[in-house]
Amino acid sequence: PSVLVINGPNLNLLGTRQPEVYGRTTLADVEDACRTRAASLGLDVAFVQSNHEGALIDAIHAARGTHDGLVINGGAFTHTSIAIMDAVASVELPMIEVHLSNIHAREPFRHRSYLAPVAIGQICGLGMAGYLYALDALAQRFAA
Ligand code: DQA
Repeated sequence: PSVLVINGPNLNLLGTRQPEVYGRTTLADVEDACRTRAASLGLDVAFVQSNHEGALIDAIHAARGTHDGLVINGGAFTHTSIAIMDAVASVELPMIEVHLSNIHAREPFRHRSYLAPVAIGQICGLGMAGYLYALDALAQRFAA
């Protein structure tokens, strides 16, 4: 099985962006850790990062038929994008929502997620490990 890991706006700046919130881990570190975990789980993994809502929607559409599951950190679009929610609902792929920070412990505008209703589950507040747990959960689901 194959999983597409999608990172949204500003996550290309991980490592230097508000390190007190998001840590010093870079996006390349996240992707390397995902590659290692995916290999040990017998999953193929691919990555997309974009700062553009439409590009993220295009990537979700293209995942249909190409990948078996999605891991999405939508960044701030999580809290605003009905269009990304609709895209996930349209492709009918199992999706796990990930956030590095605990969005529920932050500003009220981060508490609402438009991705949560179309996700199998949400992992937040656990930093980079959240991506790895999401891969674990998808691998279990594919094996079931
Ligand atoms: C984030 C949380 C969002 O609220 C924020 O806009 C981000 C990153 C996280 O991974 O903690 O860009 O998705």
